[in-house]
Amino acid sequence: MNEYDIIIENGTIVTASDVFKGSIAIKDGKIVQIGEQLSGAERVIDAVGKYVLPGGIDSHVHIAQPSGEGIVMADDFASGTLSAVFGGNTTIMPFCLQQKGVPLRSSLNDYHALAKDECYTDISFHLIISDPTDAVVRQELPALVADGYTSLKVFMTYEDLRLSDGEILKTFDVARSTGATVMVHCENEDAIRFLIDKHERHGDVTPRAHASTRPVAVEREATHRALSLAEIADVPIVIVHVSNGEAIKEIMRARARGIKVVGETCPQYLVLTARDLDGMDWEGAKFVCSPPPRDEAAQTECWHGIETGVFELFSSDHCPFRYEDEHGKLNPKGKRNFRHIPNGIPGVETRLPILFSQGVMAGRIDLSRFVAITATNHAKTYGLYPRKGTMAIGSDADIAIWDPALKRTIRHADLHDGADYSPYEGMEITGWPITTIVAGTVMVEDGVLVGKKGHGKYRPAAARPTFNIRLGDI
Ligand code: URP
Ligand code: ZN
Ligand code: ZN
Repeated sequence: MNEYDIIIENGTIVTASDVFKGSIAIKDGKIVQIGEQLSGAERVIDAVGKYVLPGGIDSHVHIAQPSGEGIVMADDFASGTLSAVFGGNTTIMPFCLQQKGVPLRSSLNDYHALAKDECYTDISFHLIISDPTDAVVRQELPALVADGYTSLKVFMTYEDLRLSDGEILKTFDVARSTGATVMVHCENEDAIRFLIDKHERHGDVTPRAHASTRPVAVEREATHRALSLAEIADVPIVIVHVSNGEAIKEIMRARARGIKVVGETCPQYLVLTARDLDGMDWEGAKFVCSPPPRDEAAQTECWHGIETGVFELFSSDHCPFRYEDEHGKLNPKGKRNFRHIPNGIPGVETRLPILFSQGVMAGRIDLSRFVAITATNHAKTYGLYPRKGTMAIGSDADIAIWDPALKRTIRHADLHDGADYSPYEGMEITGWPITTIVAGTVMVEDGVLVGKKGHGKYRPAAARPTFNIRLGDI
């Protein structure tokens, strides 16, 4: 009888703090030994010439979320987590959207029913609060935080989701007292509405107008306001999908005032620009997401934010819609006016390769920083650490083995999500995750699916300690 189930040997092991040659032993889904040379396993995986990293945690993913009349998101939990696991992820964090008037608990039950026995990666949920009634924030939310739903997102945009400043403060206040972590989508809805009306009056309704009606000032103002509200409520927050240097400056200014704020950016703000929305024949719809991609200067500023630690989280904001589809980007109204194009782009499978290639291989960040912003910090920010996000004795054996020399061109035909395009089509990548292990089970081996649907499980998250708020200290 062997002592271990799996040993991964001869690889370069990378955590958020260390890089060393060694072996990892796995038993019953957990990492049980790390050493120079180990023996006594059912199965040995030779990782010579490869990097052995904690599996990616993508803490910003939308799956099976209702997105407006007649619009259907392209991924269910099976296709979304399949795509994730091929992209070197072992945990994703989708959102549970509270529809107005619906209790949070029943919304959660719906998402759990959709996810049950369908997942290839582990999952944990964030809540989207669209209706912060007293009953929701004062009764439901504390009970849910105690049950492991410890993060929530609030929106300052989208007519049906936006909260008023008062509602945001009320939600922040409960986050403070329960130790929940709040993610904020910062764009000023009234300013967007004003600009959309103006563009429509001038007949400017192509996908490019999506970017013009959500300029940097719209994001900068809302970022400043969210941070001021957080200061007033005395609560740490996460500013998600930051797209430009002006918003980065607001985060830095807030930090200088002592506000605890975690910054998140995404691949689209590093490698796409608003010009992508110009595509011929309405192809620009493929790139409609919010905030929109900006310009090369903003890309440079976002890279700088990654290099210097403004961003502790690098997520995909995977929010997939099919393009050639009457329920997707080219729905009957969306074909005629940008404001009916569903917001969001796919990217859960390409997040890690893009950052690895353009970040690590291009010499912008080192391997440990890559691990920190793609896995470890996500687990720390959202209450999954140390079970997830690192490779330590006792942690779940969530591991991605990378071939740093593998060159691939991104082609949607090779990806596994439910969309029919990739916004990154044709991008040349060096380095790709070839084997992904979720809680001790090999799911993808040398680029081939070997694991079964349903292996991935829901994992509850812990709340922040409320007595000593230090979210920004990770
Ligand atoms: O355009 C985007 N980002 N859609 C997804 C929803 C969100 O705001 O994160
Ligand atoms: Zn958002
Ligand atoms: Zn999102």
